[in-house]
Amino acid sequence: MQVVHTFAEARDTTGVDLALVPTMGYLHEGHLSLIEKAKAETSVVCVSIFVNPTQFDVAADLSSYPRDLERDLALCEAAGVDTVLVPSAEEVYPEPLDPIDPGPAAEGMEGAHRPGHFEGVATVVHRFLTALDPHHAYFGRKDAQQVAVIRTMAAEHGLDVEIVPGSTVREQDGLALSSRNVRLGLDRARAVGISESLFAAADAAEAGERSAAGLQALVELELQVRGLQPEYVTLADAVWMKPVGEVHREAVLATAVPVGGVRLIDNIVLAPAGPGVVVDRGVRLDRPSILYR
Ligand code: PAF
Repeated sequence: MQVVHTFAEARDTTGVDLALVPTMGYLHEGHLSLIEKAKAETSVVCVSIFVNPTQFDVAADLSSYPRDLERDLALCEAAGVDTVLVPSAEEVYPEPLDPIDPGPAAEGMEGAHRPGHFEGVATVVHRFLTALDPHHAYFGRKDAQQVAVIRTMAAEHGLDVEIVPGSTVREQDGLALSSRNVRLGLDRARAVGISESLFAAADAAEAGERSAAGLQALVELELQVRGLQPEYVTLADAVWMKPVGEVHREAVLATAVPVGGVRLIDNIVLAPAGPGVVVDRGVRLDRPSILYR
């Protein structure tokens, strides 16, 4: 495994069928599942580790974002990664670098609650994709709106890359994996209420409830009885992330919930299947996450 610090080195050390797994480090099984998928589908896997300052709308979230490069490198090595790119801010953001418009998929939900967040994501991902020119780039579905923003941005800019989404990976009790989970402390026990509330809606959808009003109200109620107050609960179409009235094509039921001082997001993916709805709840670990090792 090679550890490099510039795009030129990462390009030079990679082969023809390059897969990029962009990360902000503090890796967990969600990232490892993307790496595994990339390894199975392509010949050379590059993981980038860069805590991108421009996508943080709250300074304290950036300064407290967990970082441990040594740990990340050991996990990448064990996962069989070919190249780890750890660029400096100067390498990622040479002057002048125009911000990239994240487009209409960025307007609601996270975009409405985190001003500038998706412009930061679109700009950094555009920079990585144009500087490295990978054939495939892998992103977790827990950040469903991010996947939509990146897909539409790549299409808009004519980038020749396949954007590949990977399943949401969950801890044993259902909490979606996020590097931020390590900051939950005593609030960890309450955080599981987010996935429990979404799964209640998943059960209802599988039993025939297709309306946004019914599904959203159910999640809100379930969160409320667990003492959690969401910033939003939205049923949106999976491509443009616009609110929809019911599940008539693939949709995400997404929420953002502050738990203690940590803001968490989660979603389930719903798709019509004949008269019913099938729900993708992601996959659960059968052992404690490496996050807490
Ligand atoms: O999902 C993330 O970790 C980040 O948003 C990404 C895609 C690496 C861009 O900084």
